[in-house]
Amino acid sequence: MRIIFIAWLFSITILTILCIKTIPVYSQCLEDQKSLLLQLKNSLKFNPAISVRLVNWTPINDCCGWKGVTCDQAGHVTGLDLNSESISGGVNQSSSLFRLQFLECLNLANNSFIFTQIPSSFGSLTSLKYLNLSNAGFSGQIPIELSLMTRLVTLDLSTLYFPGIQSLQLHNPNLSTLLQNLTGLTELCLDGVNISAKGSEWCQAISSSLPNLRVLSLSNCNLSGPIDYSLLKLQSLSEIHLGSNNYSAPVPKFFANFRNLTVLSLSSSNLKGQFPEKIFQIPTLQTLDLTNNGLLDGSLPEVGQIGSLQRLLLSNTIFSGKLPNSIVMLIR
Ligand SMILES: *[C@@H]1O[C@H](CO)[C@@H](O)[C@H](O)[C@H]1NC(C)=O
Ligand SMILES: *[C@@H]1O[C@H](CO)[C@@H](O)[C@H](O)[C@H]1NC(C)=O
Ligand SMILES: *[C@@H]1O[C@H](CO)[C@@H](O)[C@H](O)[C@H]1NC(C)=O
Ligand SMILES: *[C@@H]1O[C@H](CO)[C@@H](O)[C@H](O)[C@H]1NC(C)=O
Ligand SMILES: *[C@@H]1O[C@H](CO)[C@@H](O)[C@H](O)[C@H]1NC(C)=O
Ligand SMILES: *[C@@H]1O[C@H](CO)[C@@H](O)[C@H](O)[C@H]1NC(C)=O
Ligand SMILES: *[C@@H]1O[C@H](CO)[C@@H](O)[C@H](O)[C@H]1NC(C)=O
Ligand SMILES: *[C@@H]1O[C@H](CO)[C@@H](O)[C@H](O)[C@H]1NC(C)=O
Ligand SMILES: *[C@@H]1O[C@H](CO)[C@@H](O)[C@H](O)[C@H]1NC(C)=O
Repeated sequence: MRIIFIAWLFSITILTILCIKTIPVYSQCLEDQKSLLLQLKNSLKFNPAISVRLVNWTPINDCCGWKGVTCDQAGHVTGLDLNSESISGGVNQSSSLFRLQFLECLNLANNSFIFTQIPSSFGSLTSLKYLNLSNAGFSGQIPIELSLMTRLVTLDLSTLYFPGIQSLQLHNPNLSTLLQNLTGLTELCLDGVNISAKGSEWCQAISSSLPNLRVLSLSNCNLSGPIDYSLLKLQSLSEIHLGSNNYSAPVPKFFANFRNLTVLSLSSSNLKGQFPEKIFQIPTLQTLDLTNNGLLDGSLPEVGQIGSLQRLLLSNTIFSGKLPNSIVMLIR
């Protein structure tokens, strides 16, 4: 199982490498690509004292050698990683960013585009496989145009809650319309996005469109329950993060039938009733977080029946029964 997990980690790493330059690139940047990047730099508002990439983009150098820029062999810009660059604005509908037609990876995470909507022009980046706008500060309705990025493998729009900062909304389009054509997604992170949907809606939206999903992260999305059986179609699921919602329902028994599950996180979600003991037996499960479900009952399994569990978080639940001696060592 460890080998399987490592293989999975490795495949995630490959995708990440697309965006982070680890191998020297010998291709020569094409003039039009360089000019688009310089226009982008000039329009972006950022703090040069904090920036470590943008600030070093200088016209005299080959743009494929600039920090945060990745190119293909022909000299087209295929990756742009501008996360944590203190960017506070300067991306509007007509930004030169959206003319980088060869972009496959774009990371603008952890910036402060506060009080700005996600520009619909993102939809013109149809080659994108990896889009990361997590904690970028965007708010308001997520534009329907994102559904045009049909090659996406990873979509991360998650936002931690900051008081005073508005959340992203997913109403029109709703989750189902947004995901309809994003069928290649293996990783979907919409934590903190206001989805406000009931169990049958959000579960079916995901299960009918994303057959290859491995990571599902929808914490704090104002989801309600009950969690729908249709989710079980997603047999590749490896990580489920669905905490900080309000299901007012039991944990479904069918969760025990996810064959590749490594993380199950359902904290603070008003889960009730008896926790299905079979879930402990999922052979791949490493982390189980059920904290802050004050009405969730259950008993601890026998040691022989806990698969490969390494982290078990149960505080503020009403789990009872005898703690097998050997399980103590498993709780870290
Ligand atoms: C978009 O931003 C550019 C550069 O900051 C500016 O010149 C242009 O007028 C803006 N366009 C719109 C439609 O706001
Ligand atoms: C976010 O960006 C700031 C710089 O603006 C940096 O100091 C901080 O470490 C970044 N946080 C993360 C989680 O990357
Ligand atoms: C998005 O970017 C942030 C900051 O670089 C990183 O911490 C996070 O893991 C990325 N998300 C995904 C899904 O790769
Ligand atoms: C989502 O939006 C589509 C298109 O507007 C609509 O047909 C569908 O009923 C909506 N789904 C839900 C669950 O509201
Ligand atoms: C999804 O693709 C179908 C077929 O190409 C198209 O008719 C539909 O409008 C697309 N939906 C969205 C939300 O883009
Ligand atoms: C979330 O969406 C619901 C339904 O549209 C709305 O009533 C609620 O005010 C929104 N909450 C936030 C925090 O934006
Ligand atoms: C959650 O969704 C419900 C129903 O749409 C809405 O009335 C409520 O305001 C939402 N709560 C939050 C915190 O957004
Ligand atoms: C489960 O994980 C293994 C190893 O990563 C993979 O080969 C297998 O295809 C996965 N199963 C599903 C249904 O995705
Ligand atoms: C959770 O949902 C239940 C049933 O819809 C409702 O009674 C309760 O007030 C909600 N709890 C919170 C914290 O919103």
